Amino acid sequence: MEAVKLFFSLVGLLLTFTKYAESRTRLHYVPHGHNMAVQNLFSRFVGSISDKCLTCICMVESRCQAVGCVSVNGTQTCGFYHIKLQYWKDCGSPGGDWMTCAKNYTCATTCVRNYMARYGPVSGCPDTCETYARIHIGGPRGCKNPETIPYWHRVQSYGC
Ligand SMILES: *[C@@H]1O[C@H](CO)[C@@H](O)[C@H](O)[C@H]1NC(C)=O
Ligand SMILES: *[C@@H]1O[C@H](CO)[C@@H](O)[C@H](O)[C@H]1NC(C)=O
Repeated sequence: MEAVKLFFSLVGLLLTFTKYAESRTRLHYVPHGHNMAVQNLFSRFVGSISDKCLTCICMVESRCQAVGCVSVNGTQTCGFYHIKLQYWKDCGSPGGDWMTCAKNYTCATTCVRNYMARYGPVSGCPDTCETYARIHIGGPRGCKNPETIPYWHRVQSYGC
């Protein structure tokens, strides 16, 4: 348990550092729109879901409302992002309790961010909203599963 918490603290630190490094890189070495090839190369290594992508997923799942829990084929999914118990465990169990966290926008968003930070970089898929959306619905290897494509199209329809 402590090891898992430590792991996610480290992931958090790493993300903070990467964001800092990224903003520095953009500001000082890669002026906006100046060198798309370098920017694309860099973004492929950052591996964190954008706020915009989170919002689109939240819209598909619940219209980004504080919905409760629903049972889908016998599996309960809860809150803003329709988070399942196993997903919450995989994201490091933030907030201490699955249902409470899933129904709290801040906590649920942290959970989705952690999940993507954990599985995005090892998925073998590019650092794009499509990858994150398909992992959200299909699990760690969801971005390679053709069955998750229609879900991505729904996420896309909110402007992502
Ligand atoms: C529920 O299970 C059935 C049969 O396995 C499947 O066809 C259906 O797509 C599932 N529904 C959802 C929402 O996953
Ligand atoms: C929601 O979650 C955040 C982060 O886990 C926590 O700091 C906050 O107190 C929670 N809000 C409520 C109303 O429980």
